[in-house]
Amino acid sequence: MFESKAGVLFIAGIGFFALAFLSNVVVPVLMFRDQPERTAEADVNDRTLYQFEELSKRYPESFRAAFKGTTTEDCAEALRLGRQIYVGEGCWHCHSQFVRPVSNESRRYGPVSETWEYQNELQRPVMFGTRRVGPDLSREGGRHGNDWHAVHFFRPKTVVSDSPMPEYPWLFDGAPDKPNRRGLALITYVQWLGSWLDSYPYYEELESIKSEGY
Ligand code: HEC
Repeated sequence: MFESKAGVLFIAGIGFFALAFLSNVVVPVLMFRDQPERTAEADVNDRTLYQFEELSKRYPESFRAAFKGTTTEDCAEALRLGRQIYVGEGCWHCHSQFVRPVSNESRRYGPVSETWEYQNELQRPVMFGTRRVGPDLSREGGRHGNDWHAVHFFRPKTVVSDSPMPEYPWLFDGAPDKPNRRGLALITYVQWLGSWLDSYPYYEELESIKSEGY
């Protein structure tokens, strides 16, 4: 077998495959198998709660019909549902959730993604995505207000005139200011993305406005 080039390449191929399997599957599983997975409740932070409460004030009727209140548990429920909708609507066909350490991606999307960020129920399985028709969303939270997202999901072209993103009118009871339970959950989920990092924009700005007494 080692007399021919093909034989050497064949054995090498199997060898490299085995090495990759060992280093990318077996070693990580052994390293992290005892690490507990965080729950959605544990990943509800002040920034996400702030956005969730903002939704309850902005769309009081829709919100009351959709969620019991604005506790951590209610918010976790919204995040779980929001993620399901993100998966079900195929948002991940066009959006990645992984900022790579190449091509100056951090200048465009925010801090490079790290392993620990994915150790959560809401990241299982991970929504890395397959390609990027739209921007990476792993630092999307706080970049826009809830009302912007509502209008954008209802009809993206209203806010980005040449947007190729599909419309999602079934997340609303008729108008962009009437998001239903699914719409509210998806907005909460999108606002949660990246909320575990200090780079989260909107919230700090609002805190500083509040402290100035407005
Ligand atoms: C056909 C591809 C496509 C699909 C499917 C898609 N998007 Fe988009 N999305 C885009 C493109 C392109 C943009 C950039 C233009 C714009 O803002 O509308 C975008 C923009 C966005 C933005 C704004 C990003 C920013 O900060 O400017 C958000 C949030 C978003 N999409 C969320 C979603 C969600 C949630 C879904 C699933 C319900 C979804 N997208 C489905 C292509 C897509």
